[in-house]
Amino acid sequence: VALQSRNTLGVGARATVLAEVTDAAALPALFERPEFSGQPPLVLGGGSNVLFVEDPQRPLLVLAGRQTRVVRNDADGTILRADAGVPWHGFVLDALARGHAGLENLALIPGTVGAAPIQNIGAYGVEVREFIHAVEAFEPARGQWHRLDRDACAFAYRDSVFKQQPDRFIVTAVEFALRPEFTPRLEYAGIGEELAAMGVAHPTPGAIAEAVIAIRRRKLPDPAVIGNAGSFFKNPIVPTLKAEALSSEHAALPVFRGGDDDSRKLSAAWLIDACGWKGHRDGDAGVAASHALVLVNHGDASGRQLFDLARRIAGSVHERFGVALEPEPRIIGASW
Ligand code: FAD
Ligand code: EPU
Repeated sequence: VALQSRNTLGVGARATVLAEVTDAAALPALFERPEFSGQPPLVLGGGSNVLFVEDPQRPLLVLAGRQTRVVRNDADGTILRADAGVPWHGFVLDALARGHAGLENLALIPGTVGAAPIQNIGAYGVEVREFIHAVEAFEPARGQWHRLDRDACAFAYRDSVFKQQPDRFIVTAVEFALRPEFTPRLEYAGIGEELAAMGVAHPTPGAIAEAVIAIRRRKLPDPAVIGNAGSFFKNPIVPTLKAEALSSEHAALPVFRGGDDDSRKLSAAWLIDACGWKGHRDGDAGVAASHALVLVNHGDASGRQLFDLARRIAGSVHERFGVALEPEPRIIGASW
């Protein structure tokens, strides 16, 4: 099976076996089949956060279920349940159309509902963990079904139990808890200005989604036009003392809260930009001209070429600033 159109970096890779499962209840039977017994499959959603350096040596599994339904709706709010295969952005628009606010800052993130908890997707001051009520998952190695509540998911910045224990769980559906009241989340730089430019004084959830969509369209390359996986590196979390030392030397370096008092999050884009990589190109592997954190495939770059470029970028940031960058996408066929 060709995977080039199944990953947004547009890297050519092939899988020997790929199963598309619409009804998750069929998973236990799938793992009785010889192609799927003995090794966990690689689950592939929209392929917007994966880099194939080599062909995957395992069977691939795509969850194709696309049902969304209301599980509960009362004065405390609404529980919306969506199958893993539901496209994320469509789900956000659907929730807004049903009158449920909360997910508007996460509009236009590519990929599927099932992948949202894997790295605890986040954008514009909001992370999806705030809204996750439960994650339904199947564990092929034990043949067990699980229902993980929010705490069991161990969410952190771009992290979760699913990322910590790759391939253990197959996420089959996610339940989202959406509260009845609407609290606009405008703390992330740029949203307020965008709304003002749109002439919106009292933002509705829909207006915030529109503002987020407009900012994203300006800043991030569209994978349908040029291959990319969004941010290629996580923003590094460093000890506060290290952040302060860097800030005193580089006043323009953006520094964000790190989760506790002892740590700070730095802008990886700024560090990479400062090393001169923005717009750089090695053959068809490059760095977006509009955003230093986004690696792009100008056409025929191989996964290996993109990986090598990423290593060189991280090496130069480490040499200049003493900060280690970690890739955000799942890398298949090479270890960082
Ligand atoms: P895939 O890329 O298919 O898979 C990613 C990982 O999740 C793999 O390890 C895969 O095995 C695993 N996985 C996927 N589905 C399941 C499942 N059902 N069960 C178990 N494991 C599974 N991310 C953000 O957080 N914020 C952003 O603002 C953002 N912006 C982006 C912008 C662009 C232009 C692009 C291309 C990407 C962006 N991303 C962003 C990254 C990406 O969209 C998200 O990580 C998304 O959740 C990936 O979804 P996917 O279905 O494409 O997952
Ligand atoms: N910057 C530069 N040079 C650049 C681009 C940005 O110096 O080329 C600096 C600017 O100072 C800017 C700052 O970096 O203010 C932050 O940039 P941006 O607002 O674009 O956010 P980011 O930190 O680069 C993160 C997420 C994105 C998410 C945005 C918006 C990570 C790794 N990335 O990017 O998520 O959409 O914030 O909230 O946390 C993704 O994960 O794939 C992704 C796109």
